[in-house]
Amino acid sequence: MELRVKRAPRIEAEITVPGDKSISHRAAIIAALSNGVCTLRGFLPSDDCMHTVNALRALGIQIEQPEPDVLTVHGKKRVLTPPKHELDCGGSGTTMRLLSGLLAGQTFETRLVGNPSLTRRPMDRIIEPLRRFGATVYARDDNYLPLKVKGGVLTPLEFTMPVASAQVKSSILLAGLHARGTTRVHEPVPSRNHTEIALAEFGASIRTSPQTIEIEGGHSLYGKKFWVPGDLSSAAFFIAAVLAVPNSHLRLTAVGLNPTRAGFIRLLEEMHANITVVESSAAGGEPVGDIVAESSEIAGMDIGGSWIPNVIDEIQVLAVLGTRMQKGIRIRDAAELRAKESDRIHALAINLRALGADVEEYSDGVFVQGRQTLRGGVVDSFGDHRIAMAFAVAGLFAQAPVIIKDPGCVAISFPGFFELLRQMSSDNCSGGL
Ligand code: S3P
Repeated sequence: MELRVKRAPRIEAEITVPGDKSISHRAAIIAALSNGVCTLRGFLPSDDCMHTVNALRALGIQIEQPEPDVLTVHGKKRVLTPPKHELDCGGSGTTMRLLSGLLAGQTFETRLVGNPSLTRRPMDRIIEPLRRFGATVYARDDNYLPLKVKGGVLTPLEFTMPVASAQVKSSILLAGLHARGTTRVHEPVPSRNHTEIALAEFGASIRTSPQTIEIEGGHSLYGKKFWVPGDLSSAAFFIAAVLAVPNSHLRLTAVGLNPTRAGFIRLLEEMHANITVVESSAAGGEPVGDIVAESSEIAGMDIGGSWIPNVIDEIQVLAVLGTRMQKGIRIRDAAELRAKESDRIHALAINLRALGADVEEYSDGVFVQGRQTLRGGVVDSFGDHRIAMAFAVAGLFAQAPVIIKDPGCVAISFPGFFELLRQMSSDNCSGGL
């Protein structure tokens, strides 16, 4: 399948993006461990999050879905049932890594599998700490799926993470819930802290300082109502589109504004983009608000170091937007991008070149020259949702249409993406998914 996105004369819209993917996974998992019935609203019913829901169901958790974005989860106090079959995590690294942490605290063995993309991604980053907790973990070449996890009551762990990864941190914290005592995790750079926030909301005994998190094992979690805010990473595609297309204006409502996720906004503010953020409320312990963006001249910048964990899921759209910046954008220290749903550094370079852009590819990033005209052409999503959406944005300002191969993968994080894009850019995309 292919989808064609053509130049938009202007964009004028007010939209609400679906629920945050990271928070949706965590809310479902933590609700499953609680002592009561939890209602989750604003849940993201995307492919990735439904893999988490179906895995929890296979582990004996009753979950109803009265509406696509509402879940009723009947918590079972950390006592799960051995699944009748292996757990399929699809392409979801978050499902795989968070569930492994949870399963390290169960006395039965579970086999976890995934699709070819997930099967290529490294798991040693969770295997090592889970083994040090006392769990038994087998993996192909000690690093890749399928994984087998078995544990029980764990020994508390003090662990310094070699890479800044919220998935690894979360896996350790979920295992820590089943440990006899205090587990302590140190991160090299703060990564998204949704697990810490959601665990505290559900009553866990957790203490955080900027780069160290401590959790007490054995503590009960209570059932509660929980609201998931809109996903800032999904909003980023529309923000980038509006900044790049002339005479455009966009309001995004009820977006999660957690500072560990808002690097994209801070970066654009530093580059003088016309962006206003109005924080209005809090939901599920997370700050929430509206974002208003307008067409802008953007300066361009070099980014690396501690910026990276904060913008890790927005780098692909930043690179596309880089072609419109005055000085372009140089991204370094982002080798982690090669271990995502696709090799995102390579995918960016290949696709930008296919549209006629000048790009330098480094082992840990890219340099995209500024003030370039994209001429249009055919790009591949590489089965990666964020690559497909970033290049749909390119189509809105390229000279000729951008044709995206295999666009259906957007359902991993944003099933209605192309419909919303079509509405806000006056029917500018056509084709099948
Ligand atoms: C996520 C963490 C990040 C991010 C991914 C979602 C999460 O991955 O890229 O899309 O929900 O914890 P890493 O933990 O591998 O950095």
